[in-house]
Amino acid sequence: MSQLLWQKPGVKVDARIQQFLAGEDVILDREFFVFDIEASRAHAEGLAAIGILDDDELDALRRELTALAEDFRAGRFVLDEQYEDGHSAIEARLVDRLGDTGKKIHTGRSRNDQVLVATRLWLRDRLECVAEVSREVAEVALARAEAERSVPLPGYTHLQRAVVSSLGMWWAAWAEGFIDNAWRATQTRDWLDANPLGSAAGYGVNLPLDRDHTTAALGFGRMQLSATYAQLSRGKFEMAAIEALSSALLDLRRLAWDLSLFTSAEYGFVELPSQYTTGSSIMPNKRNPDVIELMRASYSAAAAARTEIEQLLSLPSGYHRDLQFSKGAIFHAFGRGLAALELLPDLLRNLEWRQDRMQAALEPSMYATDLAVDMARQGLPFREAYRQAADPQRWAQGDPHHSLQARVSPGAAADLRLEVLHKRLQALAAA
Ligand code: ARG
Repeated sequence: MSQLLWQKPGVKVDARIQQFLAGEDVILDREFFVFDIEASRAHAEGLAAIGILDDDELDALRRELTALAEDFRAGRFVLDEQYEDGHSAIEARLVDRLGDTGKKIHTGRSRNDQVLVATRLWLRDRLECVAEVSREVAEVALARAEAERSVPLPGYTHLQRAVVSSLGMWWAAWAEGFIDNAWRATQTRDWLDANPLGSAAGYGVNLPLDRDHTTAALGFGRMQLSATYAQLSRGKFEMAAIEALSSALLDLRRLAWDLSLFTSAEYGFVELPSQYTTGSSIMPNKRNPDVIELMRASYSAAAAARTEIEQLLSLPSGYHRDLQFSKGAIFHAFGRGLAALELLPDLLRNLEWRQDRMQAALEPSMYATDLAVDMARQGLPFREAYRQAADPQRWAQGDPHHSLQARVSPGAAADLRLEVLHKRLQALAAA
């Protein structure tokens, strides 16, 4: 391992203990290494602005930070166990290339605010992806709601046939849901878009750091003011980000559940394009919807990550190494969650409905609610109308009230207000 930043002369570092301390940490730091480098550049510029670095030193640091990011992306610089963590690796590389100038980069900062700023930048980026993919899902769902608005689909409660609903209703539900999810991701992104850099170890530093510069250079919407709160907010903002992700994954879980039912032979409503299915190693006849099952399962990673971080936060104020474990949790949750969400728009575009099967699943009595409401509209007390509409005799001979040809129940066909959803989608795209 390269020289530890904090190593005291004459004190031996035990390799097993080092392994326990660092563990997989340095490997995890790969995930936001480029953001750590970007924040280092902003920090160097801030140091130059207050006279800690001269112009040549700043130029050299900028040049080497750019080279480091390029080398890292190209695989020429490998972040691995020879470094304690990504933060130390940046400093080690700058010292290696620039000597004393490199040794100045850590003036007025701590790895505590370094990890905070890298995490916020990373989450901001991930939440933008969640918002974007949610918007795209809503767009596909809305287009299909329009195209298939009056195709009848059984509406279920308790998984029992209830009313004659429509594909328009089914699609519009996901459209509105994913518009909400996109807004939530965007709002959470804005909520955590605050700059912690300059809070140092959690108590500021005796330098007039140019925090306005680093805030603007990193594109933050605002600055975190209290150095102590900057530390205190660790874990809390990660949890908020996971909750925003979970909002989309929770809808995905239920959507995948619907599809899982609809693709079974018992329903047979949906034909999944074959690239979304797999086979069985033993049963030659099988076509399994593994893709939608893994989509459904992805919520669990987010729920587990949120719980893990919540458990870590049982701490007094100030930095504690416990907090390091929040990183793996967010990477895992967003890794799984975004991988699932990103496949969703195409899956929805390619779904094929078996309208014959949907039609066959409709029963005359599924208009009983419509009939009762119609009678109530004509003046019969609703409970009496309900009683009359409940009579099985009435439905035994078929459909005296609505012909199944009439298709979607009037209630379910009610104005879906798709144009309002359109407006909300447009507002999202503009946000
Ligand atoms: N890997 C550490 C973390 O994620 C970085 C901060 C280390 N700070 C410290 N004082 N040991 O928390």
